[in-house]
Amino acid sequence: MQNRALGRSGIDVSLLSLGTGGASQFGQKTGVDDAGRKRLVHAALDNGVNLFDTSEQYGRSEELLGNALEGVQRDRYLLATKWSYRPGGEYAEPGSLTESTERSLRLMNTDVLDIMQFHGILPGDYDPVVDRFVPEMLKLRDEGKIRLIGFTEMMTKDPKALIPQMGLTDHPEVWDVIMLKYGIMNQWAAKDVLPLAEKHGVGIMNMAPIRQTLTREKDRKAMFDTWQEDGSVDVSSLDESDPFGWLLHDGVESVIDAGYRFGAMHSGISTVLTGTATVEHLEANVRSMEAPPLGSDDYQRLLELFGDSAAPN
Ligand SMILES: NC(=O)c1ccc[n+]([C@@H]2O[C@H](COP(=O)([O-])OP(=O)(O)OC[C@H]3O[C@@H](n4cnc5c(N)ncnc54)[C@H](OP(=O)(O)O)[C@@H]3O)[C@@H](O)[C@H]2O)c1
Repeated sequence: MQNRALGRSGIDVSLLSLGTGGASQFGQKTGVDDAGRKRLVHAALDNGVNLFDTSEQYGRSEELLGNALEGVQRDRYLLATKWSYRPGGEYAEPGSLTESTERSLRLMNTDVLDIMQFHGILPGDYDPVVDRFVPEMLKLRDEGKIRLIGFTEMMTKDPKALIPQMGLTDHPEVWDVIMLKYGIMNQWAAKDVLPLAEKHGVGIMNMAPIRQTLTREKDRKAMFDTWQEDGSVDVSSLDESDPFGWLLHDGVESVIDAGYRFGAMHSGISTVLTGTATVEHLEANVRSMEAPPLGSDDYQRLLELFGDSAAPN
């Protein structure tokens, strides 16, 4: 597995990393048991994955991840988790980030979290988050409870919300990492955000290389219809029943394979998350990361088709 620098942090991260949220939620939503989770985590480690992403919001994922990693040498992996600054809609009380961090440390049986992220900053909330909570985050870092500070983008209906761009423009020195979506139908970040991240040495975790719009026929069709109606993306040159069939050649096995390969191609991306809970899918996604990138003609065509696109999910 190829590693990439996680921005300016001095840490190398595997190109594929394992997420414990999303639809599978580390198998909590898909009937995977503890033994299956252990197999998944060990298959990831055996394949060179060194970053696991979780959140206090993903059911029992933090605890289950801690259990699945039991006995593994701590320096073999990085832990990223998240804190929700608006747990019930209102801004959290001062001190609750510290309490949550200590709970995450306990649940994952560790004395340091490699990455602590503000979970899903909503449009309009960027400045309040920075003013209210970044000082507490910095204190946690000074105390040695966390190493790197980041935030994640929200899957909003306004996919061009500029939260990552605000972070990189206003406080690039604060953020070590940002988690955002970048994929075949989500190329928006490549315009300004990824070049800014590279300029400032901010690590980028790509949270959504495939998700619904690429993999679910109904969602993909609905997105294409919206784009055709508002004229923002012209998909008329694509075969309606098989719009991505032209990508499947020279070893590219499926649209999902193409999606993972594409998700890693920009040099501003440090790591691509997969939210799978099955060893079979994990290994397929590892193969995508180890395979050559998409050919330049296909990459160029995707750029021409979707360079302005930002599917919300
Ligand atoms: N705002 C945020 O902070 C935020 C938002 C979204 C995601 N995330 C993070 O990013 C991670 C990834 O996001 P995600 O889980 O939503 O998206 P994802 O990795 O694209 O996974 C979505 C679905 O695709 C399936 N899948 C994955 N690989 C496959 C393959 N090779 N073949 C067929 N199906 C495959 C998985 O189901 P199976 O289990 O059946 O494989 C999963 O349910 C999350 O786990 C989380 O850590 C963060």
